[in-house]
Amino acid sequence: MDTPLDGDQSTTEESPDSRNLSRRPVLRAALAAGVAVPAALMGVPALARTIPSTGGTLEPTPQCDDGDDPTPPQTEGPYFKPNSPRRSSLVDANTVGTRLTVTGFVFGLRCQPIANVLLDFWQADNNGVYDNTGFKFRGHQFTDAQGKFTLTTIVPGLYPGRTRHIHVKLQAPGQRVLTTQLYFPNEPRNNTDTIFDPRLLMQVRNVGQGREAVYDFVLNVQQNPNPTSGTTPTTTSSVPVGTWTAGTAYSPGASVTYGGVSYICLQSHTAQAGWEPPNVPALWRVA
Ligand SMILES: [Fe+2]
Repeated sequence: MDTPLDGDQSTTEESPDSRNLSRRPVLRAALAAGVAVPAALMGVPALARTIPSTGGTLEPTPQCDDGDDPTPPQTEGPYFKPNSPRRSSLVDANTVGTRLTVTGFVFGLRCQPIANVLLDFWQADNNGVYDNTGFKFRGHQFTDAQGKFTLTTIVPGLYPGRTRHIHVKLQAPGQRVLTTQLYFPNEPRNNTDTIFDPRLLMQVRNVGQGREAVYDFVLNVQQNPNPTSGTTPTTTSSVPVGTWTAGTAYSPGASVTYGGVSYICLQSHTAQAGWEPPNVPALWRVA
């Protein structure tokens, strides 16, 4: 077949350096879209920015506060198959597993959304098994005019040696392929999986019997530094700042100070003694 991902040469192995904590794409995206969805930084209605598939209104074009790190690559693993069907839903009425919807945007280096980005997802089924003969839980789609994607699937099952994850390849028109993986917060194996990278954690919440997740990708794509329309500069001043306090519920993107140092929250959690920011790099990174 002829998907642009055929002949991909960009898969890279995870290097130790690439696992260093740095600004999370999701935070950057939230900052970029701060004017339109400031509540995303607070975590509570983080998914409220989801735009209806029909009748939605365009959000202001996001713009970054600074140049930033693109989404880190990860190993492809042994189970990628080219020529996946074009579809945004990998489930049907008979699919076994906890329903999961993953939504997000794909941005370039200046946090402007990119339309027509190919996203090719693949994952294990509810039992942790990949379909290597057919195309179950495999599918590709393209971002819409707003740079948005929606994947309807299930929570992938666990298999030996790895924490829970979803594989994805992304390719903006005419650009190199990014191969990476997405992770779930609060998974016990996140702490022991040597490939796991907290920069690739989705924001996940339970909704009814299913789950909804958000992740924004940043591709290493140069963009016009002076877009001429629809932009509103944003700064980190929109991030709530306070002193780290045990007992407080923090959401990804929240900013605190502790010991005179500023930190950014990476995962939703309620702070407790012993989880001070310097002690838990999985929860906080230095701002
Ligand atoms: Fe995998």
